[in-house]
Amino acid sequence: MQVVTTIEEVRAARRATPALSWGLVPTMGALHEGHLSLVRRAREENARVGVSIFVNPTQFNDPTDLVAYPRTLEQDAKLLEAERVDLVWAPPEEEVYPPGFQTTITVGEVAQPLEGAARPGHFQGVATVVAKLFNVFDPNRAYFGQKDAQQVAVIRQMARDLDFDMEIVACPTVREADGLAMSSRNARLNLAERRAATVLYRALIVAVDAWDHGERDADRLRALLQNTLTTERLARVDYVSVADPETMQEISGKARRALLSMAAFIGATRLIDNMLVGDQ
Ligand code: PAF
Repeated sequence: MQVVTTIEEVRAARRATPALSWGLVPTMGALHEGHLSLVRRAREENARVGVSIFVNPTQFNDPTDLVAYPRTLEQDAKLLEAERVDLVWAPPEEEVYPPGFQTTITVGEVAQPLEGAARPGHFQGVATVVAKLFNVFDPNRAYFGQKDAQQVAVIRQMARDLDFDMEIVACPTVREADGLAMSSRNARLNLAERRAATVLYRALIVAVDAWDHGERDADRLRALLQNTLTTERLARVDYVSVADPETMQEISGKARRALLSMAAFIGATRLIDNMLVGDQ
């Protein structure tokens, strides 16, 4: 496994293998089983696998969140080596955003609600850095976790609009044994908060169960999410949503398919989770 820092080194590796398929897994490091599931999928489907590790400052709307973000490059590299990754790009900030950098990508409606509304500028930062990653690696496929469902929708929209010639692959959310979706943020929870954090999963299960028993009314599904979340004393609801999985616009009336999603603070830690229901 090659670990490199410059754009030129990534391009050289890509140029050396023009006939081979490349899968890219973009990450911000602090890798867990969720990331590794993306790497394994990329390994299965491509001749070469590249992983980027870059804590992208432009997607953090809260500076304390950026400072608190764990940086564990040495440990990440060991995990990636064990997964037989070919190339890791871990650039310093100036390599991605050199002095004088002044271009950003703004994705429209799909990036406005939910995470876009709660974290102003977040998706602009994500779209810009992901476009750069796509240009640097020129992969055949890029892998993202369905846990960040709106991020997947925003990136798909950007890739379509800007004619990136590659497949965007969304992979299922990986969960702890008690249902909590894996996230590098989980490490910030104390013992009581860690127990409380399962309420996001429990709320989704209640709503999915209602869906499976025929509930299609979007307001009633939202109420089930909200009511379950509020049973947990340590949880503070940021939003609950029953939205179209492609456009991210809230559904009114009856749903045929939906992304059930939510964000909630457990103590000071903001967690998100989601599940898809209906024909996708
Ligand atoms: O999902 C993430 O870890 C980040 O948003 C990404 C896609 C690596 C862009 O910085």
